[in-house]
This record gives sequence, structure tokens and C-alpha cells, in this order.
Amino acid sequence: MKITGIGRGIPDQVVTNHQLEQILDTSDDWIKSRTGISERRILTEQNLNELASNASAEALADAGLSGADIDLVLVATTMADYIFPNMASMITRHIGANCPAMDLHAACTGFLYGLQTANAYLKAGLARRVLLVGAEAISRLSDWNDRGTCILFGDGAGAVVLEEGDGLKSMHLSTQADDRVLFMHSQPGNSPYTKGHSHDKPGLTMEGQDVFRFAVSQCEKDLRTALELADMGMEEVDWVLLHQANSRIIETIKRRFNIDPKKVPSNIHRTGNTSAASIPLLLWELYHAGMLKPGQTLALSAFGAGLTSGACVMTWHKDAPKTLIPADDLLPQ
Ligand code: COA
Repeated sequence: MKITGIGRGIPDQVVTNHQLEQILDTSDDWIKSRTGISERRILTEQNLNELASNASAEALADAGLSGADIDLVLVATTMADYIFPNMASMITRHIGANCPAMDLHAACTGFLYGLQTANAYLKAGLARRVLLVGAEAISRLSDWNDRGTCILFGDGAGAVVLEEGDGLKSMHLSTQADDRVLFMHSQPGNSPYTKGHSHDKPGLTMEGQDVFRFAVSQCEKDLRTALELADMGMEEVDWVLLHQANSRIIETIKRRFNIDPKKVPSNIHRTGNTSAASIPLLLWELYHAGMLKPGQTLALSAFGAGLTSGACVMTWHKDAPKTLIPADDLLPQ
């Protein structure tokens, strides 16, 4: 497969660390030094489906296609606006498609799972064009009384159109099953027959340091495996796009591979961790800043609850858009 179109949808509401100081026992200094995050976007009046639909429409326009050209809509999301109908179906309505539509859930690794699934459909001849969306509103899952977690996340959606091509050089996905270090219970419902399923703590629960250790070691392993499968060395990669979860994780990976910092863009200071939307949102910014050139090699890596993780190596095929949106804060100065 290859990426032929890209779009994004982000909430209007910016929430800075200073605003969080008003509602939590925290500080801008603590959040920035531990995570690299200065602000994030949070959904207010809009719903997630709107963001995802806007991202999808933009990706289709960028690819020069309409909804009727799409053979499969895939949405990587942890919590759509509805349990059912799935978000992918709602997007088909917005873009004017009647093709198969499904959501997949692999937490923050969802976009990579989506790429792999789309690639399988294309290779099997089941689809010629796939719309893949990563859309998350983790602000709705967070416990806003838990300063250790709610400060980390932001909302957003990124979409790509995938068509047949030789862009994907390798893909490696894996799981280390764990429901202790990062989890959230589903709602128990009110069945009179269900016993013992009420949960005291609202929102997601995380053992931050355990997740940090997993992220660093697994991200390194996944990238090494993906590079090996592509028969490439890190020095041949032009851009390394890491899941934007924590700038300290990103810095550690840079050091472990001794990667030129100018090859590892980051927007976490403005986005926070947007889960399955993280990589497509970063990709969108690089594309619109005119930083991606046809023929360049990208390495992508993500990790999240599951614990799921994965990495892939791909070639970029698209020319830069005509109008650029410079983003001089994506790379260290
Ligand atoms: N503001 C101020 N203090 C805070 C705080 C906040 N927002 N959150 C936690 N603290 C406090 C803790 O209460 C603790 O205080 P204590 O020493 O008095 O008990 C202290 O800071 C250290 O807490 P700790 O949890 O050990 O901090 P940390 O250095 O591990 O950083 C994370 C916490 C969450 C930033 C870090 O563990 C992390 O980023 N982990 C990875 C998380 C992640 O990426 N998850 C998503 C995966 S997809």
C-alpha cells in the first residue's frame, strides 16, 4: 500500500498546563519536565465523529477521491461516540460511501494495526482504496481527579487514504498481555443478575513507571525488528515518527539508536498523547510543513494498552501540498 491522502480534525479548545493548575494540584513545570507537554486539545461541544469525519473528508480531497471510491473504512479508536453503531459506519454517511466499515481497537497502537489490516485487504484484492482513521477522545476516559494521568492526554483525529502500492517495507506488531499497568473497566450496566462488577475508580488506571519501562524497551525492540525485516539500518531512515506519549520516552529512543535528532519530529508539546490519532496527526504536520519528500523512508512506532505495540518501515510517495503550513517547532532548534 501507499498513502495517497491525509487529513486531520482537531478540537478548537486548547487546554494549557496553566489552566490545569487551576483545577489540579499540579504545575506547568512538573508536567513539562516529566512529559514535554505544554498544552493539548480537548473536545467540548463537538463530538469525536465530527472530528473523524472532517479528517476523512480532507484526506479524500487530498487524494483527489470521493467517498464512492473507497472500498473499506477502518477506524482505530478506543472509545467512539457510540458503542454501536461503530464510528466507521458514521463516517461512511458523512463521506457518501456504502462500503464495509469497521472499528478496530488496539489502544494507542491502533493506527499501526489499521495500516496492517488495510494492507492485508489491498494485498488480498478485497479493496483497492481504504480510508483509515485514528480518532480518540481520551479526555472522556480520563479521571480528572487523577493528576498522574489526566494531564497526559489530548483529543484528535487523523485520517489517511491507502491505495495499492509498494510503500510498506515491513510491519511488526506484538502483544504482552497485561491488565494491571494500563486499563479501564467497561461500564457494568444494570442487569439485576450481574454481581460483583461495580468499579470504584472512574477513568483509566495506569502504573506510569511500568508503562514507561515497557514503552522504551518494546519500542526499541519493535523498531529493530521492523528495520531487520525491511533489511535496512536506522541510518537509511529519513524520518522516525514515534508515538507521542512522553518526550522522555522519545529522547530515550533517540539515544538508544543514536538517531540524528533532526530526524525525529515531535508535536507532543501541543497535542499531548492522542492515542491512535498520534501518528497520523504528526504525519499531517510534517506533510503540510513540506518536510516529506517522495522516496523518503519513514519508520513508525507505537505502543499502548494491551499491552500492544508495533513498528513499521514505509516509503513516502506524495509530493508536498501547494500551500505549506510551516511548523518550526517540530524539530529541536
Ligand atoms: N503534578 C504534580 N505532581 C504529580 C503529578 C502532576 N501532574 N502527577 C504525579 N505527581 C507526583 C506523584 O504524586 C509523586 O509524588 P510523591 O513522590 O509525593 O508520591 C511524584 O509526582 C512522582 O510520581 P511518579 O508517578 O513516580 O512520576 P513519574 O516520574 O513516573 O512520571 C509519568 C509520571 C506518568 C509522567 C510517567 O511515569 C510516564 O510518562 N509514564 C508513561 C505513561 C504513558 O506514556 N502512558 C501512555 C502509554 S500509551
